[in-house]
This record gives sequence, C-alpha cells and structure tokens, in this order.
Amino acid sequence: MAVGILINLLLLVVVAYLAGAASAAAEVSSWLDVVPSEIASKLDSGSNAAARFATDYGGVTRAAYPAAVFQPSTADDIAALLRFAYCAEPPFPVAARGNGHSVRGQALAPGGVALDMAALGGGRNRINVSSEGAYVDAGGEQLWIDVLEAALRHGLSPRSWTDYLYLTVGGTLSNAGISGQVFRHGPQISNVYELDMITCSSESNRDLFYGVLGGLGQLGVITRARISLRPAPARVRWLRLFYTDLGNLTRDQEFLISLPDPTGFDYVEGQVLLSHQRVDGSTFYSNQAVDSINRLKGESNTIYFLEGAVYYDSPSMADQKIEDLMKQLNFVPGLVFSNDVTYLEFLNRVHNEIEKLSSSTVLLHPWLNLFLPKSRIRDFQVGVFGGILQNVNHTTGPILLYPLNKHRWNDIMTATVPDEEVFYTVGFLWTAATVEDWGTFDALNNEILGFCDQNGIEVKQYLPHYTSKLDWARHFGLVKWEKFVQLKRRYDPKALLSPGQQIFTTQVNTQEGMHAKL
Ligand SMILES: Cc1cc2nc3c(=O)[nH]c(=O)nc-3n(C[C@H](O)[C@H](O)[C@H](O)COP(=O)(O)OP(=O)(O)OC[C@H]3O[C@@H](n4cnc5c(N)ncnc54)[C@H](O)[C@@H]3O)c2cc1C
Ligand SMILES: *[C@@H]1O[C@H](CO)[C@@H](O)[C@H](O)[C@H]1NC(C)=O
Ligand SMILES: *[C@@H]1O[C@H](CO)[C@@H](O)[C@H](O)[C@H]1NC(C)=O
Ligand SMILES: *[C@@H]1O[C@H](CO)[C@@H](O)[C@H](O)[C@H]1NC(C)=O
Repeated sequence: MAVGILINLLLLVVVAYLAGAASAAAEVSSWLDVVPSEIASKLDSGSNAAARFATDYGGVTRAAYPAAVFQPSTADDIAALLRFAYCAEPPFPVAARGNGHSVRGQALAPGGVALDMAALGGGRNRINVSSEGAYVDAGGEQLWIDVLEAALRHGLSPRSWTDYLYLTVGGTLSNAGISGQVFRHGPQISNVYELDMITCSSESNRDLFYGVLGGLGQLGVITRARISLRPAPARVRWLRLFYTDLGNLTRDQEFLISLPDPTGFDYVEGQVLLSHQRVDGSTFYSNQAVDSINRLKGESNTIYFLEGAVYYDSPSMADQKIEDLMKQLNFVPGLVFSNDVTYLEFLNRVHNEIEKLSSSTVLLHPWLNLFLPKSRIRDFQVGVFGGILQNVNHTTGPILLYPLNKHRWNDIMTATVPDEEVFYTVGFLWTAATVEDWGTFDALNNEILGFCDQNGIEVKQYLPHYTSKLDWARHFGLVKWEKFVQLKRRYDPKALLSPGQQIFTTQVNTQEGMHAKL
C-alpha cells in the first residue's frame, strides 16, 4: 500500500501574546493561575477529573495525577493548549489520551495536562467516507469500531485492524496497529494517506508525517487521519487448527502468509496454550470441541492453534478455497474447528471477552508484546515456552504467536521491527487479579526479556516500555534513534508531549543524539 505524502498541518505558531503572563508566572504559584481565557473553560483542575486520568488499562502504573484535564472541542483548542504549555514558565507536559488502553502509563501526564481526546468534536462522530469510496477521514479520537461501522454503511472497510476495536485512531497510529491482516496489508500505519497534526513548531515537513506514524505520541497530536478503504465482505469463515508441534504451526503460518491475495487466508494469527491452560466453552468452541482439545492437552504438554479467516461473499467459493488449503496444512488430523460469522462479528470478536473480564474484579494487565526474528523462534521456544513458562502453573490471558513480513512495513516511519523479512509477534496478554499477582507476571516478563538479552535474541518490544535513554536508543537502533531525536528537537523541542513514554524527560538539546552509546 502506497502511503500518501500530503501533510495538512494545523501549525502551532508560538506567539508572543503570552509573554506578559509568562514573566508574571514566576511570581504566581502555578501556571494554572494564568490560563488564557480562550481555554480556561475547558480546563478542569478538580481532583475528580484528575483521578480518572491517573491510571490506564494496565492498572498498576500510578503516576502523579495530572494537574488538570483538558477537554477540547476543536483542533484549535488543542493548538491553544499547546501554545500555553510551551510558553508557560516552566513549561508543562501534555499527554493526548485516546482511550487510555496503554498498559504502562504511556498516556499519562503527571503534573501536566491530560488531553481528553474523546471530547474533540463534542460527541459528534467525526468520520467521513469519501464519495468515491477510496478512503475515510476519521478524527484522531475516534474509536476503530465507529470507523468500521461508518465504512460498513457504504459497503466498505479499512484493510488493517487491531484485534480489539475500542482503541482510538490516534492511539494505534502512534504505535503501529497490528492484527492478522498485517501480512497482507501492512500495519494500520501503512494504510494512511494523510494526517492532520498539531505540533510545537512552526515548521512542517514531510518527515513529520512519517515520524508520527509509530511515533509514540512524541511529535504531535493527530487530529485527523485519512485511511484507505476496500469493499467489505459479507461474511467470514473463522477457523482454528490445532498443533502439538511448533515447527508445524510456524511452517503452516509462514506458508499462509506467503500466498498472494486472493488465495490463502485473509487473516492469520495463532496462540500458544501452556500445559496448565485449558480451553473452555466459549462463543467459539462447541462442548464437543472443548473435550477433544482438552484430550489433546492431556497427551501433549504445550499445544498451539493457528487462527485463520476467509472473507467471502459466495459460500461455495469459500468452501472450495478452504478445502484446497486444508490439504496443504499439517495440523493434528480432525482438530480443526470453524465458525461462520458476519464480517462485523469477526472483527469485533474480542469485545465480548474484554467485557466479561472488565465486569469481574480482574483489572490489571501486565502485558508484554515482542517482535521476534524468525531465525530465533526455536531458541525462544526452548527457553520460554518450554523453559521459563513451564515452571509456572498459573497464568491467565492468551499468548499470541503469529508471523509478520517486514516488506509490509515502511522503515521511514518511527515504528521499529526486527531486521528479518519474517518476524513473529509474541503477545503475553496476562491478566492479574491482585497487585502481588501483577508483580509475579512482571517478574516473568523480565525473565523472558533477560533470557533474550543473554542469548542475543534481538527482540523488539511492541508497545514498548523502557525507562532509560540507553534502552530507548537500543530499541530504535543508532540510525533511527538519531533521526527520532532530531524530529523531537524540531517538533517538540521542550519535550512536552506524551511524557508517560519516558523517552525524553528534559528539553531535547542538540547533544542528545550524539551521546547515545549503543
Ligand atoms: C484489550 C486490548 C487489546 C489490544 N489489541 C491490540 C491489537 O490487537 N493490536 C495492536 O496493535 N494494539 C492492541 N492494543 C494496544 C493498543 O494499540 C494501544 O493501547 C494503543 O495505545 C491504543 O490505545 P488508545 O487509543 O487507548 O491510546 P492511549 O493508550 O490513550 O495512548 C497511547 C499513546 O499514544 C498517545 N496518543 C493517544 N492519542 C493520540 C493522538 N491522537 N495523537 C498523538 N498521540 C496520541 C498517548 O499520549 C500515548 O502515549 C490493545 C490494547 C488493549 C487494551
Ligand atoms: C467531514 O466533513 C465535514 C463537511 O465537509 C467537515 O466539516 C469535517 O471537518 C469533516 N470531518 C473530518 C474528520 O474530516
Ligand atoms: C508435522 O508435520 C509433518 C508433515 O505433515 C507430519 O508428518 C508430522 O507428524 C507432524 N508432526 C506433529 C508432531 O504433528
Ligand atoms: C504450583 O502450584 C502449587 C499450588 O497450586 C504451588 O504450591 C507451587 O509452588 C506452584 N509451583 C510453581 C512452580 O509455581
């Protein structure tokens, strides 16, 4: 997918009108006392508002509260807020908050302003499908479920997804946006034609467009994205094929992602089931299926399933395609289960699971997501699935495992992936019931990362969490890091944006890139 290069910027021109206020600020207790009237009514410094914005989906990160919550009605309001933040003495941080579905405090703004993106547009759906159907314009605050429903009203759909749709356009584009369609269409960041952004600079260059995609909220606030569309299929055959051998699973997954459109599956993922993990009757499995799977679990230790989907309008064509493909796959004979659902039901499949969880007491999510080079998957299996995780007899939450292909990613963007054409995403989506439990999983995550480090397995974290500059520099690699530092210097020189990522904690001086030792 070609990425458009048009950048529409709502420039943040730093003007002098605040100069008086800024010099006065030294004598007043806080910048909160000198809020410009144009934004004062949208800034809430009450502790109730602040408390709501002091945590996230991860549930454990409890940073200091934001000093205030800002509810913009328009993009101009955001520009006014950033202008104020930039000129205040001292300047204060601002974090756009999409749906707060980060798990490590990435959208928090301790002591600064939490920018409540949901307020943008005042509750109106800011989503327009183009008349010829090539793209949809969506506000950065919009949830993907709403973008999908709007597109479906025209018989259309974005191409690339996340597993869960109650995430914002600006939030996933700040990371990458991945799911089982990436092998065919690239991540969500590869399907964007245009962006509107608000930055802390009067410059606007093409580098900003690429920098913001996967840019972890560091360079600007995305207020609109133009996203590529395709015709939506009517229905989906949704399959799960079981394996006792990881080599066979990955061979089949890699075969499937090598097939060109329209042959092969339209979606390919997979999961690992550890020895103590059982499947239960859910919307996917019949009781009979549950019995056969758990019988297989009794015989083998760790088992795996490949999850695939075939989009279709004609049932007979779907049948034929699946029949042909099944002959070429090496799952355990008979252990294939399928469902037939609407396209919307398929894309929104995770929603019910999440609702079930959030209505119970389980609220903590110490997740770890990795991109693992294909050449090291065997070592990872031995050390992690067959090693570290075998010593654990209680986990909850799925472990995702599926391959992606590097040529669908654009290396000019900030998002960072391993240096091999095929790499695996491995997602440990733990849920913890207590803080102690959280600590156990966090320790397990660190053990996994330590294992990779000691064995020279060059994983990249997805939705990365690091706290030292050296680790961030390693994450990006020398070339990308220096470029990222330059972009930061240009578009957010006072390092005000998304401080919860813990990348740039002070003003970005010119030396920063130079001193990173790798
Ligand atoms: C249940 C669940 C399932 C998930 N499944 C997937 C998945 O399948 N694939 C996948 O790729 N990810 C997945 N994620 C991760 C998700 O992509 C991230 O949490 C992401 O941050 C989006 O969440 P959000 O919109 O709530 O953003 P937030 O968590 O609110 O923000 C994320 C970061 O982006 C910044 N930001 C937010 N909005 C903007 C904006 N408009 N402009 C600039 N910066 C902004 C924030 O300051 C913060 O640094 C999942 C998360 C959860 C909780
Ligand atoms: C949608 O179209 C209306 C009317 O042209 C326009 O005012 C609005 O800004 C558009 N919204 C987005 C998100 O592009
Ligand atoms: C893996 O696939 C091969 C080739 O189809 C098959 O012979 C073998 O039995 C499979 N191994 C397991 C453990 O399923
Ligand atoms: C496994 O669970 C039992 C109790 O259910 C516990 O006593 C034991 O320590 C656990 N083992 C490990 C390695 O976690």
